[in-house]
Amino acid sequence: MRVLVLCVPLDDAELASDRLWAAGACAVEERAADGSTAELRTILADSDDVSLARLGRLAPGWTVSFLDVDDAPAQTWREFSEPILVNDRLVVRPAWLARVDSPDVLEVEIEPGGSFGLGDHPTTRVSADATWRLTTAGSRVLDVGCGSGVLSIIAALRGASRVVAIDIAEAAREATLDNAARNGVTDRIEVSTSAIEHLSGSFDLVVANILAPALVAMSAHLRRLTAPDGRLVLSGVLAGQHAHVIAALAPMRVVTTTELEGWASVELCHT
Ligand SMILES: C[S@@+](CC[C@H](N)C(=O)[O-])C[C@H]1O[C@@H](n2cnc3c(N)ncnc32)[C@H](O)[C@@H]1O
Repeated sequence: MRVLVLCVPLDDAELASDRLWAAGACAVEERAADGSTAELRTILADSDDVSLARLGRLAPGWTVSFLDVDDAPAQTWREFSEPILVNDRLVVRPAWLARVDSPDVLEVEIEPGGSFGLGDHPTTRVSADATWRLTTAGSRVLDVGCGSGVLSIIAALRGASRVVAIDIAEAAREATLDNAARNGVTDRIEVSTSAIEHLSGSFDLVVANILAPALVAMSAHLRRLTAPDGRLVLSGVLAGQHAHVIAALAPMRVVTTTELEGWASVELCHT
């Protein structure tokens, strides 16, 4: 496992962390290197060149290095994972566990690989519930920041006729393809690492479970790609701290907000 280590002056730690999340990090570990420097560790890509390109130009005083880390200890969480009951009709099951096989329950099998989206994080759970609720037969769905592909797969299994899944991380593209095949919906999901600004068309449902700075940066495209009578569901925003994200999406208006364990999911429409 190739870990990127970003050292920055202590005052820049929050800014640097936002930069890593916006570059596609699934998790960021912050350590105080000494009294004046913070060390941020994450994984962006297998290749150092791709990681550096994704990170972009470094601010003065920022330095990057890479570490090879044995990922075996990092996999012990798998032993403790359980199927996630998103609602009484939808279960997300880690691929290494036996089928739940409950009548009338839609079961989605996920192997996250190196991507985010096993289904246990509160932002995934609220997004998954919204995707399940808002997808109807024939819906066109866009999943921005697809991670493991969990939301795209729920949409496809609910009958969406077209699902477009994008993510800046190559690991997410691979995981989504793998999970689409596991769930038998490869033919309905188009997966790529295309940037949102290169997408065209109109979607009945746009879901984006990404942190606030990235949502604000792409707000014009999220608005443009949501059909006139469609819905946009944002997650990845902290409860009570997302007014600026809503403001960036104006004149779209909030239909409903759901909060779970300190995170918020906001559903918006055009009129
Ligand atoms: C919190 S994860 C969400 C994964 C999955 N959709 C879920 O709900 O569990 C956010 C994903 O967004 C991706 N991402 C971050 N910035 C992005 C951007 N500007 N464009 C596309 N994907 C982005 C990350 O690589 C990551 O896979």
